[in-house]
Amino acid sequence: MNPKIKAAIVGVEGYTPDFILSNSDLEKMVDTSNEWIVTRTGIQERRILKEPGVGCSYMGIHAAARLLEKTCIDPQSIDMVLVATVTPDYVHYPGTSNIISKAIGAVNAFAMDLQAGCSSFLFSMQTAAMYIESGQYKRVLLVGVDKMSSLVDYTDRETCILFGDGAGVVLLEANAEGNGIQDAYMRSDGEGVDYLHVPAGGSMLPASVETVTGKKHFMFQNGVPVYKFAVNKMVEAGAIILERNGLTVADIDWVVSHQANKRIIQATAERLQIPEEKLMFTIHKYGNTSNASMPLSLFEYESQLKKGDKILFVSFGGGFAWGGLYMKWAY
Ligand code: COA
Repeated sequence: MNPKIKAAIVGVEGYTPDFILSNSDLEKMVDTSNEWIVTRTGIQERRILKEPGVGCSYMGIHAAARLLEKTCIDPQSIDMVLVATVTPDYVHYPGTSNIISKAIGAVNAFAMDLQAGCSSFLFSMQTAAMYIESGQYKRVLLVGVDKMSSLVDYTDRETCILFGDGAGVVLLEANAEGNGIQDAYMRSDGEGVDYLHVPAGGSMLPASVETVTGKKHFMFQNGVPVYKFAVNKMVEAGAIILERNGLTVADIDWVVSHQANKRIIQATAERLQIPEEKLMFTIHKYGNTSNASMPLSLFEYESQLKKGDKILFVSFGGGFAWGGLYMKWAY
């Protein structure tokens, strides 16, 4: 490890499908209302990938191709392609990272997927940082992508209002100026299995006629305990990151929270005493896009970020898996 080398984001892009599923559309599908959805979650609309026969890689490839064009990076110079997703194209193999690498021409990269619920993106940033700080690799393409509509039962009002599809991508490079990822705190607790999971399709309950007719391939969620756990754990992660890096809330320029529910983000920020103007919000227009939510937030706010800005990331997801990360923006 070279303590002088940090892993810094040098470019960010996003891709969201054109199709908009609004709250008024959902009012016609399930027993809900725009008013209920907005007051309980802050979500007004979400994007859904409607193109037939494509998986999440479709969005990841679009976002990655845009980023390569924007940064003028030769895909052959990428050392590693990391994909954070809970909705891979194929449940078992190959990894979605293989599919994206091939499509963008990253022929000299090794590729792998990382799955830690909606915290996969945060865990992947730290994973990329370890490879870069070790000196082994210089350039990592990290894609956060999810096609949550593939797991959602659109007759279940408790989940179908929350989720959307999208992709965000960042390019991480070695940085000798001290900018980039400074610290990360990551934790997991298998207690979360009962509250948030997809019952079938894995090795425990492989697909069968019964699993399909029993709707076992859709996500199951017990929302209220998930809400409480999410706030408590993101507060814990944020406080630890601030404390062990000698930071106060006043030092932080931006907070990038996983976009699960506007009230979760606000409750977390309130307990950490972070003012609302430092929070990035994309939930109102994209819903919970799982692992796309953090890079999409960076993409949406990119023009407002300045070199040296101090950014606190906090995430929470199925597992449970949660964490915090402190970054100094590099451009
Ligand atoms: N429209 C209308 N009513 C709905 C509804 C909908 N779309 N979804 C649920 N309800 C009903 C429930 O059936 C329940 O009714 P009951 O009281 O008669 O049993 C009631 O609303 C629950 O209301 P409330 O307790 O006020 O809900 P809430 O404020 O906890 O909000 C969630 C519900 C799901 C939005 C919230 O708990 C949440 O966001 N949880 C975390 C989910 C999450 O982020 N998951 C992903 C983590 S990465």
